[in-house]
Amino acid sequence: MKIAFYSITGQTRRFIQKTGLTAYEINDADPDHEMGAPYILVVPAYDDDMMDAVIDFLGYQSNTRNLVGVAGGGNRNFNELYIHTAKDIAHGLQVPVVFDFEFNGTDNDVKNFQKVVEEFESKQSRHIQSHIL
Ligand SMILES: Cc1cc2nc3c(=O)[nH]c(=O)nc-3n(C[C@H](O)[C@H](O)[C@H](O)COP(=O)(O)O)c2cc1C
Repeated sequence: MKIAFYSITGQTRRFIQKTGLTAYEINDADPDHEMGAPYILVVPAYDDDMMDAVIDFLGYQSNTRNLVGVAGGGNRNFNELYIHTAKDIAHGLQVPVVFDFEFNGTDNDVKNFQKVVEEFESKQSRHIQSHIL
């Protein structure tokens, strides 16, 4: 399962680094990158106008079609706005919110996110098998 993420102050980048997972970092200067295979998007929560690069990335080539879920980073002090960016993207593109964490995540968050990714990988390989056999 591929992973794409966005980070402004580095917390989400740190979380991804701690998971050891290979991931593509969405880049403000050039968000036009095609994932080309199913992937999970990991995004922090900010005002919508700070998410232009993510919106451009999602609109690029097959990226919307290949999105299977969204994980949200945030800060619970934002109360009902906690991880609202991940929720809004997931709702808009009709995929599930698969995980949430604050800042760069705890050790448990890292383990649990790795499990979520593994589950998606095994689901995907069962899906591929059922189409071949
Ligand atoms: C201007 C600003 C607005 C934010 N708005 C929200 C918010 O609405 N909901 C939330 O859960 N976190 C909010 N946060 C917290 C960030 O999403 C959180 O710190 C996240 O870990 C930052 O990720 P990054 O360092 O990868 O950019 C906000 C932070 C800033 C600086």
